[in-house]
Amino acid sequence: MPKQRLSIALAIAVAIASVALSVIADTAKGEFVLKTVKVDLPVGDRLFPPGPGAEAANLYCLICHSAGMVRTQPAMTRSGWEAEINKMRNAYGAPVPEDQVTTIASYLLTLQAGK
Ligand code: HEC
Repeated sequence: MPKQRLSIALAIAVAIASVALSVIADTAKGEFVLKTVKVDLPVGDRLFPPGPGAEAANLYCLICHSAGMVRTQPAMTRSGWEAEINKMRNAYGAPVPEDQVTTIASYLLTLQAGK
């Protein structure tokens, strides 16, 4: 038994050594070159479109869901949007500062007007 173990260990050692040697050989031949690749991702509606209040909306409303999710809702009044934002704050724990509620509501009102 010990003889068999020794030969297994030897076979593993040889295998590791040959892999290491082939990596070294490839490096020497210059075949192990890391390149940077530029990838252009498609532009989507991941962010809210620019406008007054967009920054706050991008900051506070994309933590849990997409901008599309907000923008595909039926039109609401100002108090409807404020209630919606407060629901996000109170029911779901959205970290929206209180003084940003009217800013974001105004922004969402102008967005739905431009639909
Ligand atoms: C902490 C996570 C969280 C944040 C931050 C958040 N929301 Fe939500 N929002 C949710 C969840 C959860 C739902 C319910 C999703 C569902 O029903 O599938 C939701 C749903 C909605 C809906 C769909 C209507 C409804 O009431 O279900 C609107 C509109 C909406 N959010 C607007 C906003 C706006 C505007 C902001 C930024 C002020 C915001 N959310 C930030 C978690 C969040």
